[in-house]
Amino acid sequence: MNIIATRGLKKSYGKKSSRFDALKGINLDIKEGESVAIIGKSGSGKSTLMHLLALLDKPTEGKVGINGQISSRLKERKINKLRNREFGFVFQQFFMNSNDTVLNNVVLPLKIAGVSGRERKKRAMEALKTVELDDKARSKARNLSGGQKQRVCIARALVNNPKVIFADEPTGNLDSNTGKRVEDLLFSLNVNNGITLIVVTHDQDLAERCDRQIHIKDGLIESDSNRREKEQASEVALPTNRPSKKTGSLPKKRNVKKGAKQ
Ligand SMILES: Nc1ncnc2c1ncn2[C@@H]1O[C@H](COP(=O)(O)OP(=O)(O)OP(=O)(O)O)[C@@H](O)[C@H]1O
Ligand SMILES: [Mg+2]
Repeated sequence: MNIIATRGLKKSYGKKSSRFDALKGINLDIKEGESVAIIGKSGSGKSTLMHLLALLDKPTEGKVGINGQISSRLKERKINKLRNREFGFVFQQFFMNSNDTVLNNVVLPLKIAGVSGRERKKRAMEALKTVELDDKARSKARNLSGGQKQRVCIARALVNNPKVIFADEPTGNLDSNTGKRVEDLLFSLNVNNGITLIVVTHDQDLAERCDRQIHIKDGLIESDSNRREKEQASEVALPTNRPSKKTGSLPKKRNVKKGAKQ
């Protein structure tokens, strides 16, 4: 089942002579539970694609389907609701309100969703526990370290129990140990909770941990490797019904019901 699909997706910025075609026709099918790395050089269109997939921006041409619904046919209110309920974001530009407490930052998506005060706090504390920051709930966000801030962003992304987490360079500004911890956290959500993970990264190791790497070049998909599908394909390709050496003929099929036509 595809959770997100695109057809002929194009995005241009500016007009006339200053027009820039950032995406030039992207066709993608992302399955539920997949982990997908979007990689490519700076300026190739990764974040632009991520914003379109997450319904944070509209394409100039083409379609985005979410769970089989075509986004351009949905009303703005429905899109906002869908985004808030089904998606979580770990984006550097959606950073926290640094003057507010960690808890208030994590609670925000639940507030938007209209969850009651007590329930909000309970769920936010659970999310903070998952990222091992429940002891910092009352701290001001500005007093946290870089890695802790990033983990608060993950707590906020998962507090609504989303189907998809979008992460744009989640380990970009972190030292390698902290980055690894943030990375492990994202993959545990993918593996244990079945959350689809879509991550833009320059980090080769992080990209290789994903089921699939989509390489973007100049606004187009240059390559799309799907490890899980490749593994499945090689399993299927294993010879199970080899011709017999003696006769050269295929062995008789087993498990064929008596009387069934062959
Ligand atoms: N609002 C905008 N107005 C004009 N051009 C833009 C705008 N946003 C992005 N672009 C251009 O579109 C191209 C793709 O940008 P995008 O942010 O998707 O790149 P990226 O692959 O994420 O790069 P990076 O790795 O540096 O984050 C770039 O050439 C960029 O300058
Ligand atoms: Mg970017």
